[in-house]
Amino acid sequence: MRSINVGILGFGTVSSGTVRILQENAAAITARVGANVQVKRVAVRDLSKPRDAELPASALTTNPEEITTDPDIAIVVELMGGVEPARSLISQAIAHGKSIVTANKEMVAKVGHELRQQAHDVGLDFLFEASVGGGIPVIATLSESLAGNRIKEIVGIVNGTTNYILTKMTTEGAAFGKVLAEAQALGYAEAEPSADVDGHDARYKIAILASLAFGTRVDAEAVTAEGIRHLSPRDIAVAGELGYRIKLLAVAQTAQNGIRVRVYPALLPLTHPLATVDGVFNAVFLRGDAVGDLTLIGRGAGALPTGSAVVGDIAACARNIVAGTTGRVPYSVAATDTPVLPSASAWSRYYARVRVLDRPKALATIATVFGDYGISIESVVQRAMPDEEAEIVWITHEGRESDVLAALTAIHALPVVRSVDAAIRVVA
Ligand SMILES: NC(=O)c1ccc[n+]([C@@H]2O[C@H](COP(=O)([O-])OP(=O)(O)OC[C@H]3O[C@@H](n4cnc5c(N)ncnc54)[C@H](OP(=O)(O)O)[C@@H]3O)[C@@H](O)[C@H]2O)c1
Repeated sequence: MRSINVGILGFGTVSSGTVRILQENAAAITARVGANVQVKRVAVRDLSKPRDAELPASALTTNPEEITTDPDIAIVVELMGGVEPARSLISQAIAHGKSIVTANKEMVAKVGHELRQQAHDVGLDFLFEASVGGGIPVIATLSESLAGNRIKEIVGIVNGTTNYILTKMTTEGAAFGKVLAEAQALGYAEAEPSADVDGHDARYKIAILASLAFGTRVDAEAVTAEGIRHLSPRDIAVAGELGYRIKLLAVAQTAQNGIRVRVYPALLPLTHPLATVDGVFNAVFLRGDAVGDLTLIGRGAGALPTGSAVVGDIAACARNIVAGTTGRVPYSVAATDTPVLPSASAWSRYYARVRVLDRPKALATIATVFGDYGISIESVVQRAMPDEEAEIVWITHEGRESDVLAALTAIHALPVVRSVDAAIRVVA
């Protein structure tokens, strides 16, 4: 039986899971691939650190170039994170004829196009399943299983930290800051939480998915992101009473003359397949012209789920090497130049919560302003509050987002209005 050697850059969480899977499931992997797949070397920064998987000490090196240039290594797996030195090392590995596997969403979103092109030009594989949705096989689904479809829409819950925080806020009625502090204490959120709670991590992931789905180059910088810091337990509770759950969504849609790729929190009706995806779970909802609607749900992070996706890619590279067909999936992403459209021209339904003085005609006055901006109302609920105030919750029909926001600015200026406390999109 032929042996195929793998070199891994990094020996942290995902790498340890990858090594354990390759060792513990070796017989099954060998049978499925048609070759022994073994880890030859792993690059680290600190040789003395304890590791969560076992390899002989001689397999570890602090010089990653011993992996990227080793003629006995056929597949280089990058699990270090960050753009540099990951990008330079991958480029060097491709130049030395290695197939590439990576889980690095930031690097794939920022410079993945040039590396994929480099790999494609010399007929090598560049696979990145674990960069989106952890263990969920969404990249292979999009690029292989759904190759016969024109993709219309992708809606993802692709950040486990924010989904965990929103789930806790929903079940406990707790404020964002309190739940974030608890999540940090449990290790579910970083000490510097911005990448997760401000939507940047989700931005990278939806840029990767949109590039694949629409065959165009979507730069992460072109993706607008709103996070979840401003969400209040009150809105989560009111949304719940109205039959909705609030989730942080990464959305990519086709539109006239382009595509829209954005990250924002939104109300989802309980009937939507993503509405009940809770805790650290991730999910991706896809709509194709042939397949219709499809939802993938699973663990979006962690050593073994992410390792599962990495090993799947290693197996795909190894099979291609055995069959002599590397570079089988063409790099066609730059083939079209579909513009990413600005947010202001998008149309959405909105949930708006407004606090008013409890006076006659308050509701009618606000409804008139919505009407002046061409926004029609789907439902409205008013309830009395202490201190002669009332809370009015509006769900609008679909309107141009810039018009809805302009209407809310005008509503905020009305003498009868105390505050506009929330404006959140509603997904059908
Ligand atoms: N964690 C997850 O659940 C998850 C899920 C999906 C995707 N990812 C992605 O997977 C990648 C790895 O994440 P992780 O959580 O496994 O990271 P991690 O635990 O921080 O591990 C990073 C590893 O890379 C090594 N490393 C970093 N810079 C290096 C350098 N210049 N030279 C040699 N080794 C270097 C570190 O060495 P030392 O150990 O010696 O410091 C460490 O072993 C990231 O791109 C991440 O975004 C992670």
